[in-house]
Amino acid sequence: MEQQTIIILDFGKSLKQLTARKVRDNKVYSEIMPCNAPAKTIADKKPIGIIFTVGTKEDYEKKHRELDGYDIPILEVYGDEPEAAQLDEFLRITCGAKCDWNMEKYAESLVEELKAQIGDGKVLLALSGGVDSSVCAYLLDRAVGKNLTCIFVNHGLMRKNEPEEVCEVFSKKDMNFIYLDASERFLAKLKNVTDPEKKRKIIGEEFIRVFEEQAKMIGKVDYLAQGTIYPDIIESGTIGGQGVVKSHHNVGGLPEHIDFKELVEPIKLLFKDEVRQLGAVLGLPEEITTRQPFPGPGLGVRVIGPITKERLDILRDADLIFRQEIISAGLHKEISQYFAIITDIHSTGVERDERTYKYTLALRAIKTTDFMTAEWVRIPYEVLEKVSRRIVTEVGDVSRVVYDITDKPPATVEWE
Ligand code: XMP
Repeated sequence: MEQQTIIILDFGKSLKQLTARKVRDNKVYSEIMPCNAPAKTIADKKPIGIIFTVGTKEDYEKKHRELDGYDIPILEVYGDEPEAAQLDEFLRITCGAKCDWNMEKYAESLVEELKAQIGDGKVLLALSGGVDSSVCAYLLDRAVGKNLTCIFVNHGLMRKNEPEEVCEVFSKKDMNFIYLDASERFLAKLKNVTDPEKKRKIIGEEFIRVFEEQAKMIGKVDYLAQGTIYPDIIESGTIGGQGVVKSHHNVGGLPEHIDFKELVEPIKLLFKDEVRQLGAVLGLPEEITTRQPFPGPGLGVRVIGPITKERLDILRDADLIFRQEIISAGLHKEISQYFAIITDIHSTGVERDERTYKYTLALRAIKTTDFMTAEWVRIPYEVLEKVSRRIVTEVGDVSRVVYDITDKPPATVEWE
C-alpha cells in the first residue's frame, strides 16, 4: 500500500522542522525538500499535498508556475506557524489524507525497503548502545538477519555498567554481535591530553582504527550502516541547501579503509522521539529506548584535565548516584540530559577533624527540545542535597559537589 506523503518545501526559514513535525503529529507522513527542488522530483514522490514554508511572494509564484500541471494541492504558510485548524482542514479535506500513518506501518515499510536495498549483501554496523544505533541494529536484524554484523567498541569512556547492559541486550539476540574492550588502548592514547578538541580527535580516530581492524577480520562487506537521524541531516544543511547550522559530531566520521558499496541510513528521516517510538515498536528494551543522549567521546569530555582510569571511576560512581536519585525522585522524564563532571579543581574539606584536599565534582541537568539551546533544571534542593551527601560519603576522593546553573547559551551542555 502506498504511503500518503506531504512535502514541506523549505523556503529558508526555520519553520520547516516544526511544520514537518505537525504534519506527522496529524498522522500523515511528511518530508522536507529544498525550495529549488525540480518540480518533477517533487511530483515523483506522489505527494497528496505540498506546504510552502514562509518565503517571499516571488519565490512562491515561481514555484507555483513550475508545479502547475501536476494538480497537487498547495498550502502557503505566511505567519509564524500554520494554525492547527487550518492544517487539519488542508490535510483532511483539501488533500484527502487518511491520517493513518503510524510507527508500526512505518517500521514494516522500512524493513521492506532495507530488504530490497540490501538483498543478500553483508552489512556492518558500529553499535554504540545509544538509541539510534540500537534501533538500526534491530531494524537491520529484521531485514537481513545473519547478514548483519554489529561491532560494539568499548572505549573505556562509558558510564557505569553501560557496556555490560549493552552486551546483555544484544548477546541475547541471535545475531552476529562482536564486543571489543579497547579501553586500555584509548586510555594510552589519551594519556596526559588535556585539550578538549584533541581528546575528541584522538577518541574519534582511535575508534575508526579499532573498527577498521575488526572489519578487516570479518572480510568484505557490501554496506556500512549508520544511525543518522533527520535533525542531523536538516542541521547539516544537506536538504535545505542553507549552509551548516551545526557540524555534527558523531564519533570520528566515516572509516576510510573499509571497502563498501553503499551507506545504509535506515532512520535518517525520523526525529529523535520517533526513533524512540520505533525502538519500542521493534521490541527494544525500555532502558535503551529511553536512554538520554550521550556524546560520542563519552566521559572523555566530562573529565576535565587529564583522563585517567582512577578519575573515570570516581566520575562513574558519582554519575550513577546522580542518575539513581533523579530516577527515584521521578524527575528523569522531565530532564533531557543529566550527568556529573569531574573537575580538575581540588578543594579543601574536613573529615573527622582532619583536613582533606580532594576533587570538586559538578552536576549538570538541562531541559531542551533541540539541544541548540537549553535551560538548567530547577532540581528540588532536597534531591540535590541527597545526591551531594551520597557522593561525598560513598565516592572516595570527592570533597565538594557543585551544581551548574547556566543556560545554553552562553554555556554549552557539555563542559568540554
Ligand atoms: P553541547 O555541549 O554542544 O552539546 O551544547 C549538545 C548535545 O551534543 C552532545 N555532544 C556531543 N555528541 N559528540 C557527540 O556525539 C561530541 O563530541 C559531543 N559534544 C556534545 C551533548 O551531549 C548534547 O547532547
